[in-house]
Amino acid sequence: MNKITIAIDGFSSTGKSTLAKQLAKKLEYVYVDTGAMYRAVTLYAMNNGFVVDGEIDTAGLTKDLDSIELKFVFNPDLGFAEMYLNGENVERQIRTLEVSNYVSQIAEIKEVRTRLVALQQNMGKDKGVVMDGRDIGTVVFPDAELKIFMTASPEKRAVRRYKELLDRGEDVKYEDILENVQKRDYIDSHRENSPLKKAEGAIEFDNSDMGLVQQFERIYEHALRIIEKN
Ligand code: DC
Repeated sequence: MNKITIAIDGFSSTGKSTLAKQLAKKLEYVYVDTGAMYRAVTLYAMNNGFVVDGEIDTAGLTKDLDSIELKFVFNPDLGFAEMYLNGENVERQIRTLEVSNYVSQIAEIKEVRTRLVALQQNMGKDKGVVMDGRDIGTVVFPDAELKIFMTASPEKRAVRRYKELLDRGEDVKYEDILENVQKRDYIDSHRENSPLKKAEGAIEFDNSDMGLVQQFERIYEHALRIIEKN
């Protein structure tokens, strides 16, 4: 059976990564969380003086892009790959609200996108990949055999994110999370370079009121049908 490419795009905290991880595991495909790559570049910018008083030093960061090494390393205990930035495991650090507050601005930078898209295309060149992000079906793999576009109400997504961060021991307020979710939605879908939008041929899933199991089953069945045809 031939392997296919599965592109999952959508707004933040729609459960894209949970679904993508499950699909990849079941199909024995590679999972790539492209948001983690934008988050890692953001962490690099924050730790290396390219975020000053809330403003991004785009020229400085762009010059430094070649010295940023990003790698996914599979952790068998967790069952998925963790993000490494210049050799350091940054999986926890990239998920903080502070990184979330700057990541959309970093993801707007054309040079950052060009570099990360090239890395992502290389990671998926042999197919057999489930990739999630904002521009996978539109820019990274416009020819993906299966494209999914996920949505859910901002309030539902903020509640999910709030619980996730509380579970990780972060001291956060629901109102701040909701504000971050709404702000990122706006920036991600209005930016000049590769704005978030439903790709041609993508299947839309609004999972505001759909359980994870039900959602997974529907998409998995769909994936199997496409794989059989290939
Ligand atoms: O999926 P996430 O919330 O971890 O993504 C973090 C940010 O990265 C998100 O606000 C937009 C940006 N992003 C992007 O612009 N393109 C992608 N393919 C993935 C993420």
